Amino acid sequence: MLTGKRILLIVGGGIAAYKCLELIRRLRERGASVTPVMTRAAEEFVTPLSLSALAGEEVHQDLFDLTKEAEMGHIQLSRVADLVVVAPATADLMAKMAGGHANDLATTLLMATDTPVMIVPAMNVRMWEHSATQRNLVVLQGDGVKVVGPNSGDMACGEFGPGRMSEPMEIVAAIQTALSDGPLTGKRVVVTSGPTHEPIDPVRYIANRSSGAQGTAIAEALRDLGARVVFVTGPAEAARPTGVEIVEVETAREMREAVLSALPADAGVFAAAVADWRVASESRSKIKKDKGALPVLEFAENPDILAEVSKLQEQRPGLVVGFAAETDDVVAHATAKRKRKGCDWILANDVSPETGIMGGSENAVVLISDSGAEEWPRMGKSEVARRLAERIAEALGQSVP
Ligand code: CTP
Repeated sequence: MLTGKRILLIVGGGIAAYKCLELIRRLRERGASVTPVMTRAAEEFVTPLSLSALAGEEVHQDLFDLTKEAEMGHIQLSRVADLVVVAPATADLMAKMAGGHANDLATTLLMATDTPVMIVPAMNVRMWEHSATQRNLVVLQGDGVKVVGPNSGDMACGEFGPGRMSEPMEIVAAIQTALSDGPLTGKRVVVTSGPTHEPIDPVRYIANRSSGAQGTAIAEALRDLGARVVFVTGPAEAARPTGVEIVEVETAREMREAVLSALPADAGVFAAAVADWRVASESRSKIKKDKGALPVLEFAENPDILAEVSKLQEQRPGLVVGFAAETDDVVAHATAKRKRKGCDWILANDVSPETGIMGGSENAVVLISDSGAEEWPRMGKSEVARRLAERIAEALGQSVP
């Protein structure tokens, strides 16, 4: 069922637009409300009257003046929806979305929304197979857009192949899956990840070997359980996770600012390998070789983000999880670190070079909490992330199916 769910349906200009009439009926039968938006091209295929009659709501049409109060209200519409569905998603609409265009109401809403987006492509088979469309598809998937179809079959243009829009009941099923709640639905989690870079001068910096792989996997696992994730990342090698809010930072001080402004949150996971020190006075110009004399760098201590967040009064997340990168006496050091920093859990790992953990794809962690040290077997970083996300969901009082 889709009781109480709000769908913003953007109808593109293709022959398959007629299927949206049936789609609206099926969605409403299941308790969803549908707010239709039409592109100018869509008006060639279906009438605003039929869409509004079936939706029981006004149809929003092309954008004339974004400064008009009523038009600004349209942008709000895209934010209150639970899901934005683009059907049919024509080759042109997909290209505009992939390119970040915002030159009419539909594309402006798609750029302004912070709601998950689903596209239902429909177009001529050659247009679907065209390298430009396939390229745009990869970009959109990378942006976290869900894609339904297209199906293969006889097409209205007389050709045969992939390009037919999915049937209304297939779209309804995909919408139901996309909107099904996870155990962390409604929870907000801040995750830090990657190294920080601490500048020496405009061309040099101090860094560490963190790839950001574990933090990225944690953000993805939390997202998969339904959490809204704010991912604060240093300049990490790992590809950014999709479907989360990304805040890129460079230094420890920037990371601290980003984390504090992302609060309040239900949980915080601090997986970043934050540089403990920065160069006390960063040189504004490149430090030159000075015959024989070696430069002397003086260090200053960076803010400890985990410790600071753990000690917050009002804004402290309900659950604060830190990591401990150790090379010896892992459990003893990590247990002391948990106490010193004031976090709830520490995931301790041995980052000695022979373990291959830092920069590798596996991790072997010990979870240290009030109930003691729990050793997890060595496993892939995404498996560690999945387990951790499930434990977080349990701790926040949501049962994991
Ligand atoms: N951390 C942080 N801010 C810092 C340093 C560390 O938020 N300036 C967080 C890390 O994200 C991690 C935890 O603190 O969750 C522990 O990091 P680690 O490097 O193991 O500990 P350090 O505090 O640096 O202690 P030490 O170097 O003495 O082991």
